[in-house]
Amino acid sequence: MEVVIVPDAKAGGELIAEAMAQLLRHKPDALLGVATGSTPLPIYEALTAKVRAGGVDASRARIAQLDEYVGLPAEHPESYRSVLRREVLEPLGLGMDAFMGPDGTAEDVLGACASYERALTEAGGVDLQLLGIGTDGHIGFNEPCSSLASRTRIKTLTEQTQVDNARFFGGDIEQVPHHVITQGIGTILEARHLVLLATGEGKADAIAATVEGPVAAVCPASALQLHPHATVVVDEGAASKL
Ligand code: GLP
Repeated sequence: MEVVIVPDAKAGGELIAEAMAQLLRHKPDALLGVATGSTPLPIYEALTAKVRAGGVDASRARIAQLDEYVGLPAEHPESYRSVLRREVLEPLGLGMDAFMGPDGTAEDVLGACASYERALTEAGGVDLQLLGIGTDGHIGFNEPCSSLASRTRIKTLTEQTQVDNARFFGGDIEQVPHHVITQGIGTILEARHLVLLATGEGKADAIAATVEGPVAAVCPASALQLHPHATVVVDEGAASKL
């Protein structure tokens, strides 16, 4: 695992956007796995700026979703599909034909999970997977004690994650869905390059456990230690307990 300490979130975003741009220059139709949450926004802003300045052509890029709420209509502004359309696809000039993700509205949720696994494989696998990290060490929505070999499946959010994510639902925890579909940890580990960004002191404990703790299901992000090409980018705050 490579750990890179950057001065701030903007610098982290720039560094990772450049890695994505380099990948696209080498493989224009790369499958980019993207994450939601506030942390990756500087990455998307920096990549969009590069595309608009003509520094990289993203017109053939493909975008894959990491996780999704169950039961939120796709057009709900906080469904991750909507968030990614707004924050990633539209700024990059991509249509939804470039997008793949699990169907959080499917009646057959298990079938939706299995079909997303198949779609990822048929697409040739994820080239670069961006990850954020929850304050409890979760990646995607793999909460603590998720199996390190898990595949895409339905999960129940912990109360901590519902509290953390209530800010996207007007601060009302009652509006946060209880169930989600997430790529499993085993699924995530199949991406060719994993890039995790964490910023702020609130992530310092989770980053210390990820980088210096044992590989253990209690900190799902520690599974990155098992990956041959994992990069953890942290600002001074997130690095403060290393
Ligand atoms: C959610 C997402 C994760 C993300 C996490 C952290 O739980 N499912 O993919 O990493 O939030 O979000 P933030 O970056 O806003 O702290």
